[in-house]
Amino acid sequence: MTALAGEELRAWLRYIHSITGIHLDESKSYLIENRLSGLREAEGCATLGELYYRVRSDRGTTLRRKVIDAITTGETYFFRDQNPFELLRHKLLPELIDRRSRELGPGAVPLRIWSAACSTGQEVYSIAIVLRELLDDGSGYRIRLLGTDISDQAVSRASYGTFSNFEVERGLSGDKRDRHFARHGDGWRVRDELRAMAVFRTMNLMEDFACLGRFDIIFCRNIAIYFKEEDRVALFKRIARVMEPDGALVIGSMEAVATLCPEFEPKRYHRTVFYALRT
Ligand SMILES: C[S@@+](CC[C@H](N)C(=O)[O-])C[C@H]1O[C@@H](n2cnc3c(N)ncnc32)[C@H](O)[C@@H]1O
Repeated sequence: MTALAGEELRAWLRYIHSITGIHLDESKSYLIENRLSGLREAEGCATLGELYYRVRSDRGTTLRRKVIDAITTGETYFFRDQNPFELLRHKLLPELIDRRSRELGPGAVPLRIWSAACSTGQEVYSIAIVLRELLDDGSGYRIRLLGTDISDQAVSRASYGTFSNFEVERGLSGDKRDRHFARHGDGWRVRDELRAMAVFRTMNLMEDFACLGRFDIIFCRNIAIYFKEEDRVALFKRIARVMEPDGALVIGSMEAVATLCPEFEPKRYHRTVFYALRT
């Protein structure tokens, strides 16, 4: 097969950007070839040019969804980078619960948390574990824990809540694993009480998401890094609009918001930076 280059490569780069927001430059031709080779074969196409033509002339969304599944990087693991979950456990949740209890008086305390670009669910279940360990069975709280991702495949894996031995060993202590997971075939499945805390849905962060309502805490980690600056700015502005005025945004350790989007101001908790809306 001839290497992907020239106008054919540029057409794929433009298309991938238009459907995902992911910005790849021409030096990434090998990556596109690698990621799309399985789909090319499955579709019986001799070249990526032929696959491109087929995808663009597909009147439905099936092929587009398959390209998205193939091209996205779902790298994730439980309690990734540790510090954001310490921040959640020791600062964001206790302070939020205090504030909401004072404002709303007796009755269930609403807690709305969104993991945007949640991949196969490890981030969402890590948040659920923190909630469970902090709030026991959660009675006294109205918890809304939402995980969204653009990839149907990732969302359906997250919803099912099954993980291989390798995935469970990446980030979970034996104690946490035994408490929150049960053996399932060769791997593990999230226990029902944890699974029941989360809702998952497919969603493209490049599109409007005001319909999701408002959130107290938003994790949007390790995704903006793949976007062009103008797309990042637009994304963070949309996020600002769905955050409660006293909410918190947690991003990846390699990412920045405040320099791009004046709506946010950085706050520090030990070694972690999170973002609040500027008042
Ligand atoms: C590297 S993973 C990060 C997962 C998790 N947040 C973490 O930090 O471990 C990036 C995820 O972003 C998703 N993604 C890529 N483009 C997206 C978009 N436009 N909207 C929503 N999710 C997207 C990918 O499918 C992938 O699962």
